[in-house]
Amino acid sequence: MPSRFIRHASLRQLQILEAIVRLGSFTRAAEELFLTQPTVSMQIKKLSETVGAPLFMPAGRNVEPTEAGREVYRAARTLMDALVDLEIRLADLKGLKRGRFRLGVITTAKYFAPEILGAFCEAYPGIDVSLKVSNRHRVIERMSNHEDDLYIFGEPDTIGLPVEATYLAPNPLIIVARADHPLVGASNIPLERIVQERFILREPGSGVRDTITRLFGEHGLKPNVRMELGSNEAIKHAIIAGLGISILSLHSLNLDAGAGRLSMLNVAGFPIQRDWYLVHPKGRELSLIARTFLAFAVEHQVNIQETLARTHAALCQSGPCN
Ligand code: PGA
Repeated sequence: MPSRFIRHASLRQLQILEAIVRLGSFTRAAEELFLTQPTVSMQIKKLSETVGAPLFMPAGRNVEPTEAGREVYRAARTLMDALVDLEIRLADLKGLKRGRFRLGVITTAKYFAPEILGAFCEAYPGIDVSLKVSNRHRVIERMSNHEDDLYIFGEPDTIGLPVEATYLAPNPLIIVARADHPLVGASNIPLERIVQERFILREPGSGVRDTITRLFGEHGLKPNVRMELGSNEAIKHAIIAGLGISILSLHSLNLDAGAGRLSMLNVAGFPIQRDWYLVHPKGRELSLIARTFLAFAVEHQVNIQETLARTHAALCQSGPCN
């Protein structure tokens, strides 16, 4: 241990030295720290005695550090950074007992996010949580404005913003028709046959819509769009009402799969494999609550997969499955 320093130097002296080096002047440092100039000079004199060498030399109307002064400055910066970090962590520790967590998710993640949030609230009863569900475009907008602590969506590398992403779960997209549709039970249906059907499309800004449009485009095809609807729930109702077929996330059927009103069509190239990630802007330090939720959600992966497998099995009862 550098006992000489610990006995004689103080954090306050290091803070004063740091300010003088940064501002180039004893006067400006005194102003910034709300100290008188004699106090600043006295503290630097004491610090220089501890070090055993002068710490500053005149440079025109300002001062600049000597070599020894620069070394002390470097150590002071490291210490200050460590203390700031400590302060954040201590605040976070208090925050985990009581605090707020905001999660922003794309529409298809709403079919499992409440389940994870519910388990999280049980484990940490002092934390208030909020869940904001929007389409992909809107979730990305929310992230740019720092409106939530953490986000769930897919393809995080294509949004044009630097982000940190942690894999969460698969998000397969399937073609869904009413259970009595003539194509139910057929195998390996070509996409060319699908465009002959009336198609229900999500609203602009939807990630699923972008994927579908891209897919048909790649095959030189255009879906026969009968209507545009702004939610997965509305689309399921429209399919049941006989208004057409659509592409949905398999997760969006987890409560309907067993009811026998909707079926999955066995179409070549399906399901389209998408994935969900837990995402936040790169460089933005996550609060302890957000970090804890992230680890909690990753542990929950197995439950999401199990629900997905059950949904798939229930839909496959009516015919050949992808
Ligand atoms: P959406 O997102 O709700 O915007 O369609 C789903 C997705 O991107 O997979």
